Amino acid sequence: MAMPRPPILIALPDEIRGRRVLVRPYRPSDAKAVFEAVEESREHLRPWMSWVSEHQTLDDSRAFVARQAAEWLLRTDLGMGIWEIATGRYLGSTGFHRIQWDVPALEIGYWIRASAQGLGYVTESTALLTGFAFEQLAANRVEIRCDANNVRSAAVPERLGYAREGLLRSDTRDPTGTLRDTLIFGKTRGDWERERAASPGG
Ligand SMILES: CC(C)(COP(=O)(O)OP(=O)(O)OC[C@H]1O[C@@H](n2cnc3c(N)ncnc32)[C@H](O)[C@@H]1OP(=O)(O)O)[C@@H](O)C(=O)NCCC(=O)NCCS
Repeated sequence: MAMPRPPILIALPDEIRGRRVLVRPYRPSDAKAVFEAVEESREHLRPWMSWVSEHQTLDDSRAFVARQAAEWLLRTDLGMGIWEIATGRYLGSTGFHRIQWDVPALEIGYWIRASAQGLGYVTESTALLTGFAFEQLAANRVEIRCDANNVRSAAVPERLGYAREGLLRSDTRDPTGTLRDTLIFGKTRGDWERERAASPGG
């Protein structure tokens, strides 16, 4: 078997384009758009995202996009912005986290600004990243985790045919400090290939 490439040399695209959204790595010029989206979405993000209370100023957004761009270059964490193709509007964030390049296995995370919730944008961006992981990154496993109480988040992998693999009881705390359970959804390369074979033209 050929030696795997060092992760820092793994080729990545400038953007991944879908029907209504595109996802792409962060640039320094994205900071203002990120800040506006976070400001609009505090109430809706606070119950689920622990970083929200520490993200208070435009400089916090500048630091966020700079860190994301640095990690993208290093291939340690692949955070990406979600953008609406029709308007160029920043919609939220997604990406591959907890990356194990030696498997390869990746976790997809996401949040969407409050005014863009309920339109299917996250299902579309997650479908794009799932396909990219299996087809371009040779992933053997893609995982999605969420708070067991986060019904909207769990609906995304359910819509995309991920298997509900488990429930970790009292494994972490939510942003208020309350103990929570975590749901785990997964899709393997075998699942992906079976879906492709069963889909028309697949
Ligand atoms: C979790 C979260 C990203 C889900 O966002 P969402 O907008 O509900 O998800 P989608 O973009 O896939 O949209 C699905 C909704 O759009 C509707 N929809 C409209 N067009 C659609 C389409 N073309 N495809 C799929 N769904 C579509 C669906 O019916 C569904 O509506 P419903 O909520 O009334 O059932 C969002 O609630 C969020 O940002 N929450 C706060 C942060 C968070 O919890 N992140 C996850 C941490 S694990």
